[in-house]
Amino acid sequence: MSTTADSSSNLLRKSRQERMLEDSINNPIPPAIEAEIEKTQDANSEDLEADGGNEKEEQHPENGKLSSLKASHSMPKRTKKFIILVACVAAMGGLIFGYDIAGAGATFVMEGFELHFGWKCVEGDLECTPATTSEIDRDKGLINGLFGIGATFGALINPYFAEKHGRRISLSISAVVFILGAAIQSFSPTMAVMWTGRIFSGMGIGMLSMCAPIYIAECSPEHIRGALGTLWQLAITLGIVVASAANLGLQHLDWGWRLSYGGNISFAIVMLICLAFMPESPRWLAAHASEEETRKALARMRFEDEIDLEYTKIMIEIGEELEMGVAPWSEVFSDHNCMRRRVLLGVLFFAFQQLAGINAVMFYAPDILNKFFSENTAVYGTFILNVVNCLATFITVATVDKFGRTKLLVVGGCLMFPFLLVIGILATVDQTQGVGYAVIVFSALYIISFAASWGPVLWVIVGEMFPFRTRGKAVGAATMSHWIFTTIVGALFPVASSASLSACFFFFAAMIFIGNCVVYFYQVETAERTIEQIDEAYATHKPALKRKDW
Ligand code: BGC
Repeated sequence: MSTTADSSSNLLRKSRQERMLEDSINNPIPPAIEAEIEKTQDANSEDLEADGGNEKEEQHPENGKLSSLKASHSMPKRTKKFIILVACVAAMGGLIFGYDIAGAGATFVMEGFELHFGWKCVEGDLECTPATTSEIDRDKGLINGLFGIGATFGALINPYFAEKHGRRISLSISAVVFILGAAIQSFSPTMAVMWTGRIFSGMGIGMLSMCAPIYIAECSPEHIRGALGTLWQLAITLGIVVASAANLGLQHLDWGWRLSYGGNISFAIVMLICLAFMPESPRWLAAHASEEETRKALARMRFEDEIDLEYTKIMIEIGEELEMGVAPWSEVFSDHNCMRRRVLLGVLFFAFQQLAGINAVMFYAPDILNKFFSENTAVYGTFILNVVNCLATFITVATVDKFGRTKLLVVGGCLMFPFLLVIGILATVDQTQGVGYAVIVFSALYIISFAASWGPVLWVIVGEMFPFRTRGKAVGAATMSHWIFTTIVGALFPVASSASLSACFFFFAAMIFIGNCVVYFYQVETAERTIEQIDEAYATHKPALKRKDW
C-alpha cells in the first residue's frame, strides 16, 4: 500500500494546503498562520520536485512546524456552556452502560427473579421442580455472555452508522436498539426471551460506547476535551451507583427485577429526545455536509470569534477524507500514518484495563466481602465502593487536561499495581474481620487509582488518538477489545477465584504492570493537541527508558 499511499499523500498535502489558502482568502485567519501556510507550501513544492514526489508526509519537518504553529496559536481558552450540555447528553450513554452492568448481576439474588424463571419454587408448591445448579449457572452465564457478545457486535457495526449517517444519528440508533433490548428483558416471560433481550441491550451499549467518546471529542474545544470526555466515565460510575442503590429497594419487590433491567429505558428516552436538539459533530459535517451547516453547528458550540479558526483547523483535519473518502478496514490496520500501531495500542489498552480486574473487584465485591462479613454488610460495603468509584472520577475531571493523559495513566497504574498485590496477599492469610476491613480499604484505594486514571482516561484517548478518516473503525476495534475482555474476565473470574483468589489478584497486578509499561513506552500525549500534532507525535515517537514526551 505504501507507494500508492505515499504518492497520494503528496497529492493530498498539496490540495489540503491549497484549500487552506482558499479558506484563508474567504475567512480571515490570523496572519501568523497564513504566513506559515504559504511558507510551508513553498517548502513542500520544492521538496516534491527534488524528491520526485516520493517522500512520506509524516516525515516532512515543515508539517510538524505548521501543525505546532496552528495549535500554539492560542485563542483565549473560553468554553461556551452549551458544549457542556452536548457532552452531558452523549455521556447519558454511560449512565445506561453503568446502570445495566450493575443492575443485571444484582437480579440473580432477587427472589422475584428466581421464582419467575424457575430457579426457585414458591414454598409449599409441590408441583414445582426448581432448576438445578448447573442450569442456573448456564442461565447466568448466558445472561452475561450474550450481553458481551451483543456489545462486541455493536462496537463492530456502529462505525458504519457513525461514518455514513453521522455521530448523532448513530447515537440515536444505539439508544433505540438499547431500548428494544431492555424492553424485551423487562417483559420477558421466559429465559429464552431474556437472552434475546440481552443480545440487543448489549448491542445498544456496545454501539453507544463506540460512538459517544468520538462525538464528545469531536465537538469539544481542545483545552477541555479531556474533562468533557471524562463525563462519559463519570456517567458510567453514576449509573452503577444509581443501579446499586435502586437494587437495594427493588430486591424486596416481586417485579423489582423488571426495573433493574428496564429502569434505564427512561435514561435512553431522555437521551434520544435531547439528541434531537443537539448539533452534529462539526468534523463529520465538514466531511459530509455544506460549509454553512458546519459553521452553523460550530456557532452553537464556539464563540463567534473562534469559528473561522476552528473551521480552518477542521478543514485541515478532514482533508484526507474529502480527498479519498472513508477508509476501508484494510487501511485501519495498515502502516499508513502508523495506523496499525495506533489500533494495536487502543486494543491493548482496553485489554489491560479489563485484565487489571476492575469488574472483578467491583461486581464480585459482595461475594469477596461476604467471606468476612454478613451478607447485608457485604452489600453495603460494595455500595460504598461504588460511590467511591464515582466520586474519585472527579479527580480526573480536574486533572486530565492539566497534567495530560499519559501521566495520569502511568501514575494510576503505578498505584493500582501495589494495591492489587496487597489484596492478593490478604487473600492468603487467615480471613478474620480485621483482614476484611483491610480488603475494603485496599479495594477502595485500588478503585480510586483506577477512577483517576485507567477508567476514564482510556475513554478520552480512544476518542482523540485516531485520524478522522479511520477514527470510526479504529475506535470500533478498540471498543470491541473492551467488550471481549470484559466478557472473558466476567466468565472466568468466578471459576478462577474459587481455585485461587490470591492468584487472580497477582494476575491482575501483573497485567496492570505490563499495561503501564506499554503506555510508558509507546503512547504519545494527546492532551490539547490537534490531530495533526498527534499524527506527527506517533510518527516520531521513540520508546525510551527515560521518557521525554509527556
Ligand atoms: C470500564 C468498565 C468498568 C467501569 C467501572 C469503565 O471504564 O470500561 O468496564 O465497569 O469503568 O467504573
